[in-house]
Amino acid sequence: MKKKIHIALLPGDGIGKEISIEARKILNWINENTNINIECDEYLVGGASIDKYGLPLTDETLKKIKQSDAIILGAVGGPKWESLAFEKRPERGLLKIRKELDLFANFRPAIVFDSLANSSTLKPEVIKGLDILIIRELTGGIYFGEPRGIKKISENKSKGFNTLVYTSDEIERIAKVAFETAKQRSKKLCSVDKANVLESTELWREIVNKIGKQFPEVELSHMYVDNASMQLVRNPKQFDVIVTTNMFGDILSDCASMLTGSLGMLPSASIGYNTSGEKKAMYEPVHGSAPDIAGKGIANPLAMILSLSMMFKYSFSRNDISELINNIVNSILEKGYRTKDISTDNKKNVSTSDMGDLVLKGLKNEKI
Ligand code: IPM
Ligand code: MG
Repeated sequence: MKKKIHIALLPGDGIGKEISIEARKILNWINENTNINIECDEYLVGGASIDKYGLPLTDETLKKIKQSDAIILGAVGGPKWESLAFEKRPERGLLKIRKELDLFANFRPAIVFDSLANSSTLKPEVIKGLDILIIRELTGGIYFGEPRGIKKISENKSKGFNTLVYTSDEIERIAKVAFETAKQRSKKLCSVDKANVLESTELWREIVNKIGKQFPEVELSHMYVDNASMQLVRNPKQFDVIVTTNMFGDILSDCASMLTGSLGMLPSASIGYNTSGEKKAMYEPVHGSAPDIAGKGIANPLAMILSLSMMFKYSFSRNDISELINNIVNSILEKGYRTKDISTDNKKNVSTSDMGDLVLKGLKNEKI
């Protein structure tokens, strides 16, 4: 009997659409050649949804994707929608999915593929073999805190304000995920905060220490975010797992991703658990919609394809499929194939769809 899984594919905007086509190729192959029966439905989100329905995420789409077993999202946003009112912007669609599905734990690995060590702007010896994981709290903090807004305070004066708030429960659950994850890796966890200035992250530190007592085998350290950003660039290999707040994680993960040579290579997983303990998850590349290169067929689909790999591992416990995809990506890079973003010469430059086809060839066990 084939196991049936429902996947909601949300291509979104810009290069999100092109890389989703490549993701579908891979899903089709897995559907036809393994004991998994994949039903994959596509929905609009972000600018694409605004253009059709006037909203970045409709209730109908939200309902449908809540019923799926896993969500794959391309990217959202673009200059076309930047002047819209805040609540109507493409990014609000993405944030609403995170919040509504309570996807509080965001896993952002930064891995350097050996063959790409030269694509980084950092010296190869600093980043070769790098394999770190940033766990970003995703449904709290300043992204969602109230009060927030822009208010007129007098005739020619206004104020813009946001609130950085964390409850102990929110910190506890992300800390537990981080310790559990660190336990399965090199047993080193660094918690990043700004406890010297911000009370909400003073509480963060206190709770992380408290949870740490349940994980004596994990070596816990704390770092202020300004120092952490400097240390990430100076000597990234000192880290293994980093856990941090929503906004610090947003910033540090972009920084970490660039250590690897290309943002176009990095997948992510956003995971939550509903009241019955069932896992809910959305997988997406760390990169954005890259409107400047959209439609040119040069985007790198590997972050999206590696996001599928994460999905098979985390949502469906199919480490075999996940590793198969990772190994194929590795050997494609070893053979020298590059999309433009990771190319250092013009030798084996390939298009978005060529890259997807190469992964497909690998799956079919054909010579690459
Ligand atoms: C990310 C992005 C999003 C964020 C935007 C698009 C809302 O930068 O996933 O890192 O800030 O979380
Ligand atoms: Mg970001």
